[in-house]
Amino acid sequence: MSNTILVGAQWGDEGKGKIIDFLTETADIVVRSQGGNNAGHTVIVGGTKYVLHLIPSGILRPGKKCVIGNGVVIDPIAVAKEIAGLAEKKIKVSKSNLLISDCAHLVLPYHRSIDEQREARKGKNKIGTTKRGIGPAYGDKAARVGLRMGDLMQPALFSEKLAQRIKENNAVLKAFGAKPLKFAEVNAAYLEAGKKLAPFVGNTVVFLHEALKAGKEILFEGAQGTFLDIDHGTYPYVTSSNTTAGGACTGSGVPPHRMDRVLGVMKAYTTRVGEGPFPTENDAFSDMLHGMGREFGATTGRARRCGWFDAVAVRYAGMINGIDDIAVTNLDGLDTLPSIQVCTHYKIGKMTVDVPPSDFRQLRDAKPVYIELPGWQTPTHEAKKYSDLPKNARAYLQKIAELTGAKLTIASVGPNRDQTIVL
Ligand code: GDP
Ligand code: IMO
Ligand code: MG
Repeated sequence: MSNTILVGAQWGDEGKGKIIDFLTETADIVVRSQGGNNAGHTVIVGGTKYVLHLIPSGILRPGKKCVIGNGVVIDPIAVAKEIAGLAEKKIKVSKSNLLISDCAHLVLPYHRSIDEQREARKGKNKIGTTKRGIGPAYGDKAARVGLRMGDLMQPALFSEKLAQRIKENNAVLKAFGAKPLKFAEVNAAYLEAGKKLAPFVGNTVVFLHEALKAGKEILFEGAQGTFLDIDHGTYPYVTSSNTTAGGACTGSGVPPHRMDRVLGVMKAYTTRVGEGPFPTENDAFSDMLHGMGREFGATTGRARRCGWFDAVAVRYAGMINGIDDIAVTNLDGLDTLPSIQVCTHYKIGKMTVDVPPSDFRQLRDAKPVYIELPGWQTPTHEAKKYSDLPKNARAYLQKIAELTGAKLTIASVGPNRDQTIVL
């Protein structure tokens, strides 16, 4: 039995969904423990593309149980739609393969409106959120005025609480000059979604502890990435949850000493979607990847910003998460390049540093110091085993692992399940 926490080691979209789907083959349970439908996890199986937002990526494997833990914020209408969308693609979601925590907080329409309004008012200083209401929903949770899944399961109680929350939030929306919400409309839509979700809702902590007792193998599916973490990320250009390994414990109720392994997923280069500092960003490299039809966001469709592999950031991610081993994805994105840059240090003013500064202004002004590695200029997407990879590609992967301070155990050379090399 081995319980694994899978985290994104960069700024999200590292290919976590693909690796989760791959690892689910040997796991029994897949748990989401933080974030909401700001996440977009792409899995391609047998030529069909699935983009999971709230439902764990393990759902595509028959016989596996998926859990949405207490630390997730749930838009019940969005999750009901996601279930219906999966059914259209012949993936049946029932209470035998999905369980939702009654303690998970709800995302409500006023969260989305406030998210939008705050972004609009920030102008050029905006965060570039997904506008899914994530920040305001976690804000209400911390302020102890949130509504939870368990409330939605009690219609009279839910309606009473909702009426009061809409009254307060309409005053806020009015101050923003935004459209107020109509209680009756929101109430009806949420109660209807609540009815659809009722079979899935329960005590996920007890379920997970019983599973642990029975020796089941649990995989914790991280959403977002280390540098979007509310504490350790490039604040304020972050999301509103703990995206790092500790979030898997608080967001699921599984204690730290029951975790056996932390797997860090990272691209062979770096991407970021939304605003905020990104030292190794490179416009020519971005243009090249976009020209290949790659690196467009799975949730918002926005073009992702792209840059070279940043070992300063990933080394720090190794520290915060306690990364034991790494999965490097999108190696094939580098296939055509004659040479590849890897950032090993930053120069900030006269100082050379190997740890990212905590202040985003300093990080914004940091100048990357690069080493250059030779490219391989050979397609890698058909490689089935490590020895099939060109020599320079293997040297590149080993250099990344060495700089990160973790063992390379998976290399991914394409978006499909079978384009995964296990070392
Ligand atoms: P996640 O949010 O971490 O699950 O990542 P996303 O799904 O948002 O973005 C990763 C993108 O890279 C998706 O389009 C995946 O299909 C794709 N992908 C994952 N691994 C590979 C790979 O090794 N090669 C290629 N070409 N695409 C990959
Ligand atoms: P996955 O799980 C990449 C980014 C947004 C924005 C910031 C805050 O697919 O890796 P939010 O809507 O959370 O308040 O936005 O965080 N962001 C992501 N970037 N991948 C994600 O999820 C993200 N979820 C949020 O673009 O910069
Ligand atoms: Mg994504």
